Amino acid sequence: MTIAIFASGTGSNAVKIIEYFKEKPQYQFIVLSNKKDAPVLEKAQNLGIKTWTFGKQDFYENNKVLAILKEQKVDFVVLAGFLWLVPEHIVKYFPNKIINLHPALLPKHGGKGMFGHKVHEAVIQAKEKESGITIHYVNERYDEGSIIFQAQCQVNEGDTPESLANKIHALEHEHLPRVLEKLLLEMHNK
Ligand code: GRF
Repeated sequence: MTIAIFASGTGSNAVKIIEYFKEKPQYQFIVLSNKKDAPVLEKAQNLGIKTWTFGKQDFYENNKVLAILKEQKVDFVVLAGFLWLVPEHIVKYFPNKIINLHPALLPKHGGKGMFGHKVHEAVIQAKEKESGITIHYVNERYDEGSIIFQAQCQVNEGDTPESLANKIHALEHEHLPRVLEKLLLEMHNK
C-alpha cells in the first residue's frame, strides 16, 4: 500500500509517520510539497523516501500532481501541515482516502488562512479552556470534512502560541500515526 504525505513545512509529523511505519514494509510512503525549500523534503530523503515538488498549475490546472499519484499507485493521502485547498479532481479520485491534520478542535478555529500559529492565537484570544487536534476527511472546502479523531489538551492562563504549539505537536506526534494505521487497516479489510 502506498501513502502520499503532502507537507509544506518542517515535516515533523511526516517524519513521525515514516518512522512509525518503518518496520511495516507493506506500507510505502512518498512525500510531495508545494515548497521547494521545505525542510520536510530533505528529512524525507534522508529516510530513503522519494519526494516531489509542484507548483499551483501542477496542482490545480494541468493534473500533474494527480498523474504522480496515479503513477506511484497511491492508495491513501495524508495532509500533514499542507496549506493549499485540495482540488475537486483529486478529492473525487480518493473518496474518503484523504485526511488532514488540524491543530485545533474543529469545527472551531478552522477555515481558510487558519494555520500554524494563527490558529493558536485565535484559540488564546477566544479564551478557550482547551484546544487539541482534529484528524478529518478532506472535502472541497477547508477543514469541513467529517471528523475522524480528536484529542484535547488544556489551555492555561500563561500559554502563548508557542507553548500551545508544543502541546499540540506532542498530541499530533502521538496520535496521527496510530489513527492512520487504523484507517489503513480498515481500508485493507473492506
Ligand atoms: C501541524 O501543527 C499541523 O496540525 C498543521 O501544521 C503543523 C505542521 O507541523 N496543519 P509539521 O510540519 O508536521 O512539523
